[in-house]
Amino acid sequence: MEYKQRTVTCGQLRKSDVGNHVVLNGWVHRNRNHGGIHFINLRDRYGITQVVVGESVPPAVAEIAEKLHLEYCIAVEGIVQARPDSMINAEMVTGEIEVEVTNLQILSTCDPIPFMIDDESDAKEDTRLRYRYLDLRSKGMQKRIRLRHDFIRAIREFLSNRDFYEIETPTLIRSTPEGARDFVVPSRLYAGKFYALPQSPQLLKQILMVSGFDKYFQIARCYRDEDARGDRQLEFTQLDLEMSFVNRDDVLSLMEELFNDVFRKVMQIELPQHFRRLSWAEAMNTYGVDKPDLRYDLPLVDVVDIAKDSTFGTFKAVLEAGGVVKALRAPASTEVAFTRKYITALEDAAKVYGAKGLAWMKVGANNTLEGGVSKFFAGQETTLIKRMEASAGDMIVFVGDQWKKTCNSLGAVRTKLARDLGLIDPKVFAFCWIIDFPLFEFNEEKGHWEAAHHMFSMPQTQYLDSLESDPGSAIGDLYDLVLNGYEVASGSIRIHDVELQKRIFRICNIPDEVAEERFGFLLNAFRYGPPPHGGIAPGIDRMLMIMAGQTSIKEVIAFPKNTAAISPMDEAPSYIDQAQLDELHLCIKQPQQKD
Ligand code: AMO
Ligand code: AMP
Repeated sequence: MEYKQRTVTCGQLRKSDVGNHVVLNGWVHRNRNHGGIHFINLRDRYGITQVVVGESVPPAVAEIAEKLHLEYCIAVEGIVQARPDSMINAEMVTGEIEVEVTNLQILSTCDPIPFMIDDESDAKEDTRLRYRYLDLRSKGMQKRIRLRHDFIRAIREFLSNRDFYEIETPTLIRSTPEGARDFVVPSRLYAGKFYALPQSPQLLKQILMVSGFDKYFQIARCYRDEDARGDRQLEFTQLDLEMSFVNRDDVLSLMEELFNDVFRKVMQIELPQHFRRLSWAEAMNTYGVDKPDLRYDLPLVDVVDIAKDSTFGTFKAVLEAGGVVKALRAPASTEVAFTRKYITALEDAAKVYGAKGLAWMKVGANNTLEGGVSKFFAGQETTLIKRMEASAGDMIVFVGDQWKKTCNSLGAVRTKLARDLGLIDPKVFAFCWIIDFPLFEFNEEKGHWEAAHHMFSMPQTQYLDSLESDPGSAIGDLYDLVLNGYEVASGSIRIHDVELQKRIFRICNIPDEVAEERFGFLLNAFRYGPPPHGGIAPGIDRMLMIMAGQTSIKEVIAFPKNTAAISPMDEAPSYIDQAQLDELHLCIKQPQQKD
């Protein structure tokens, strides 16, 4: 097809271009007809330009203008004109000019669109995903995909300047579960055998260290067969990174420098040079979670001693059973009244994490406590108010239970309070490191210990002798990077010793024979002079979601799956035909019909 190719983009023309003859290519974003004069907003990736089809155009051009509908792809030829002062649109970078059309060409037509591009669309998510090609035309998606590009580019530049090699690792690998379920790919050549898609390049990047590459990174696709949620997808992208001859602080410093540099370049934001560090125990005790949102404070406060001296039987029983009691101050607010209904809503948030209730009391004038369980704390008013740094109008809420349940439940109340009371500044990016994680967690269902992160993390030296006798107390050289309440990166210093690695496997209920069968290639590599090494993997999608002020990672991924694990546009997953199944030596066991 012959057509006039653009000489300028739709975001380019300014007053200094007035009088120029130009050609624009783009999409009909808006089309208004005022008494035979067509005002068309022509859009492309770069912006929007108003083009005007006046009364004096040749009849053939006027005829084409009549045929235009939204999202037609067109070529426009014309002369740049200054808009009259009264018509200048300060909202548009091209708002001082318009293009007086001399010729028009329809490059392709468009069916009626299922939702307006760029309007505050109330289109359902599945509609947006089904017509993702249209959704991606919106200003918001275009901006976020650009942010993604800029972010990844800045990361690549920073790391390349620091002597890192970008090395690709395969996506068809041996199944080596890392915690989630593997996606598997049947082998055509070897009946009954499967490749797995990597949950992350963890073992391969460690092997690259054995190979002496020293500093590796990859913008790596990871695949995990788990339920998709707001901040999770089945396939997602990590900045995967590994370094040799480093200790924990080397990795943390590098990341601080990287995010300082990248945020400066991409977001024009200065981050603190160093991020706050909290031990896992400190984070749990003070904020009730291992990924605290530090945009606001609201610390949990230990009130075990005060509860012990109170007359509240529930708490005394909790303490006798070895539990703890913690309290949280809900600051007086103009946003929310602490009504019974609201207290019940807070209690519901606590109960999600297993709390049996949420005790409360209100702070009155002159160091008094009112309502709820205040009567059980008679005589302790001043101590409690001082401990909680509370003042009149505040409310104090309590949970008493086993330590972890208490932390998690009150942590959930903290998050809800911050949201409801409007304590969160959306412009702030609050990074922090969580360090000194426990190495193991006991899996009640399976009845054995499991790695809290993954099995390749180095125990801290002082726990080496007691790993088997007291796995629950072992702390590892593990670290997470947290941003605004989301875990955005996770890493560790690794084990590089075959014997130690086998001990960890054994504690996680993987006997030596199974370890050799499943992880033999790693253990073998470790028999050939492995260097001490460590690394980390920031989740690119999750970071971008936060940087873009979104609450779903779908908003920063061009073609995401929906929460039902389906891609509504191409309808993956789909059935494959019998011939394909036969070639792969597969037969399908139909799920049992429910009657
Ligand atoms: P981990 O499993 O903690 O560590 O993952 C690292 C980071 O990846 C992001 N992430 C996800 N993002 C979107 N959807 C998901 N389903 C998803 N799962 C994880 C998170 C997380 O912090 N190999 C180790 C890293 C290492 O030890 O170096 C690993 O994969 O932001
Ligand atoms: P009760 O003694 O059951 O009438 O409870 C009195 C108050 O204490 C109610 O507000 C309950 O929600 C709360 N409560 C009960 N058990 C706990 C607990 N384990 N921790 C905190 N509050 C509790």
